[in-house]
Amino acid sequence: MEQDVQQILEEALAEGQNVLIEGKVASYIPELAKADSSNLGCCIMNADGSMYKAGDYNIPFTMQSIAKTFSLILALQTSGYDHTFSKVGMEPTGDRFDSILQLELKDWRPFNPMINAGAIVTADCIAAADPFGEFLTLVRKLCGNPKIQLNEKVYHSEKRTGTRNRSIAYLLKSDHVLDGEPEDVLDVYFRMCSVMCTAKDLAHYAMILSNKGVDPKTGERLLDADIVRIVTTLMMLCGMYDESGEYAVKVGLPSKSGVGGGIVAVGQNGMGIGTFGPMLNKKGNSVGGERILQYLSERLGYHIF
Ligand code: DON
Repeated sequence: MEQDVQQILEEALAEGQNVLIEGKVASYIPELAKADSSNLGCCIMNADGSMYKAGDYNIPFTMQSIAKTFSLILALQTSGYDHTFSKVGMEPTGDRFDSILQLELKDWRPFNPMINAGAIVTADCIAAADPFGEFLTLVRKLCGNPKIQLNEKVYHSEKRTGTRNRSIAYLLKSDHVLDGEPEDVLDVYFRMCSVMCTAKDLAHYAMILSNKGVDPKTGERLLDADIVRIVTTLMMLCGMYDESGEYAVKVGLPSKSGVGGGIVAVGQNGMGIGTFGPMLNKKGNSVGGERILQYLSERLGYHIF
């Protein structure tokens, strides 16, 4: 069986490499345009300590929107459920990740914490003297990697050019959704997006989520089970933006993508998967990563339904 998983993972990687040509690296954040388009890797980690890896599973990249899951966790931990969800909804959108459209049309609350507007709100909800410091501590703990760091170049690149996120933050401020100053909240948001991780780090994070928040190595509870349930449910519904429905049909695992090329996917029974491939489809999701996950899901029966 072990042999099977490793072999199927290698086949999945080859399948993923075949579709890279369909994608493009993100270029709207100038520093991200420098990504190596040929990179592709995957890591599967299980609570029993077994691990399978293939390709560029250990190359660091910026987590980008995957940070939104950690920001939601911190908002819930520090501000609580009622306050957080009085500011942001729980509904999927059919719009792109950086859309402004619905903010005026329906409700002053962003639809969900997995789109940019929603994550700017959860960043604002982190009730801590040093929100980014708390974020980094949490990421290091859940990824099982104390060396995780900010990528200063990507952070400055996005801060300098992030006009669309700036528009969102000022609109949210004018509608009294943000308590903090837009530039302060944006600074936390841009920093969070610019934290580096690897597919292996993401596999560890997903393994902890799949294990209901408990670190299997130490038995320590790292996250409340309730928070794990909320975050993974929203990942299933909204984690792949306006491709969440199609992805759920094809892969069937709560997942979150980022324009740095990462996908974190929460398997069943203490299994976590991380993928990395910076070639993205039109929705901003990794083409190679999605292909790998779909192949694994089909061949190894990972789909939760
Ligand atoms: O705010 C942004 O535009 C980026 N820092 C993150 C967006 C992102 O990762 C969307 N992903 N697929």
